[in-house]
Amino acid sequence: MQATMPDRTPDTLYQRIADQLAASIRAGTLGRGDRLASVRELARQQGVSMATVVQAYRTLEDARLIEARPRSGYFVAGRTGVRRAAEPETTPLPPQAQPVAVRSLAAQVMSLVHDPAFVSFGAVWPGADLFQEERVRRAVTRAAQRHRASLCRYPTGSGAAEFRRAVARHALALGCRLDPEHIVSTTGCQAAISLCLRAVTQPGDVVALESPTSFGFLELLESMHLRALEIPTHPRHGLSVDALSLALDTQPVKAILAVPTLANPMGSCMPVPERRRLAQLVARHRVPLIEDVLYNPLCAHDDQRRAVRSFDDAGWVMLCGSYSKTMAPGVRVGYVEAGRWTEEVKHLKAVHSGSFTELMELALADLLMQPGLESGFRQLRNTVAARLEEARALAAESFPRGTRITDPPGGYILWVELPAGSDAMALYQACLRERICIAPGSLFSTTGRYGHCIRLGLGGRWTDAQRQALRRVGELAHGVVPAGGAAA
Ligand SMILES: Cc1ncc(COP(=O)(O)O)c(C=O)c1O
Repeated sequence: MQATMPDRTPDTLYQRIADQLAASIRAGTLGRGDRLASVRELARQQGVSMATVVQAYRTLEDARLIEARPRSGYFVAGRTGVRRAAEPETTPLPPQAQPVAVRSLAAQVMSLVHDPAFVSFGAVWPGADLFQEERVRRAVTRAAQRHRASLCRYPTGSGAAEFRRAVARHALALGCRLDPEHIVSTTGCQAAISLCLRAVTQPGDVVALESPTSFGFLELLESMHLRALEIPTHPRHGLSVDALSLALDTQPVKAILAVPTLANPMGSCMPVPERRRLAQLVARHRVPLIEDVLYNPLCAHDDQRRAVRSFDDAGWVMLCGSYSKTMAPGVRVGYVEAGRWTEEVKHLKAVHSGSFTELMELALADLLMQPGLESGFRQLRNTVAARLEEARALAAESFPRGTRITDPPGGYILWVELPAGSDAMALYQACLRERICIAPGSLFSTTGRYGHCIRLGLGGRWTDAQRQALRRVGELAHGVVPAGGAAA
């Protein structure tokens, strides 16, 4: 998909130029692969500075309408002559809440992520090549030098003050004003969600979430003996607020766990009006929403990054995030701002993990406060967008006809729906025999509805070996489609 440009009035020069070019691309006056004027040429033609043109081109890059090719200039994005796969449709109506049992398969998939003998598309762990390793290393060294005492001091409390301040500042980009005093640091986003679930549920309770959903969430629910109520989810627009509203009216939902930006695995992003409705709905029903904002910086537009929490002024939304997928996976520091449950979450953290990872938090605070943060995110988004586009095209060529593939506006994941009746577990086994790991669809739900789907995590290495392996997964998929094509 080529993302649409955000709606707004062209109130600055660069926006006006970007809007004119976007209109020409949409009208087909500028076709896929066409070369755009150089920065210098366009600046001269339009009578503006080169910086204005660069900003206009960046805006179009963020919207994935154009792409920069090293030493060649800017081109209209997209490839010509490539088969494009259709996207999946909204997932079905919610059944009853279900107990969860995904643990052993999830463990098997995750165990192969770092096995050098395998090409792994199983996890969503981004590889080191996507990050500024040297910058992270220097920040960790600086933290150790500047805060020597912290190594031999028992840390207690909610987290390093510098880190909590940096998170509050970063949250402004999500539209949220947070009090650093209410922020609690965690070891990653998963730990933040775990604290929130502990604060608001008891074993046996029902938690509503997207369908399909992250298997990490299902593992959490399983470990806490919670039941999952899966809510229909649209591959582009995310969780259906109407279906959730029905579920809240009819079922004993104790908490909602949602990823409004780049939900895992479908990559959907809720439109802003739906985010607002979701905030109003949970406040009306007085049910906590655990909002996961870990992927938000991977979307280019403010609207897509805006947190549901920004519409909540009564503390019903518990905001959870981390920088594992956007800055420094190895540092794995996250945070939670738990609204009404802040004190409870602080207490649970003290009881369960006791302290915090002070040095890593200080290093992350350093990274978050450095200039160039947004341009680092932009670079990451562009690299990953080009990769996803390439992977999508490869998959469209090699997978069986009738396969549907998501087209997310960012992130590292493709969700692939094989023709109905295909056996994704058989594909998983066939891939393992060829030392390729994928994540079978059954891992992402308790309903058994995604037995014909797979998730491809594309954050790891991306070389010819991965390209070839991806083509091979597509070829092997032909062997798991029911005879005669899609089953009725
Ligand atoms: C939606 C979502 N939330 C949370 C996590 C875990 O984040 P962290 O590594 O920071 O614990 C993942 C990891 O894949 C994820 O996909």
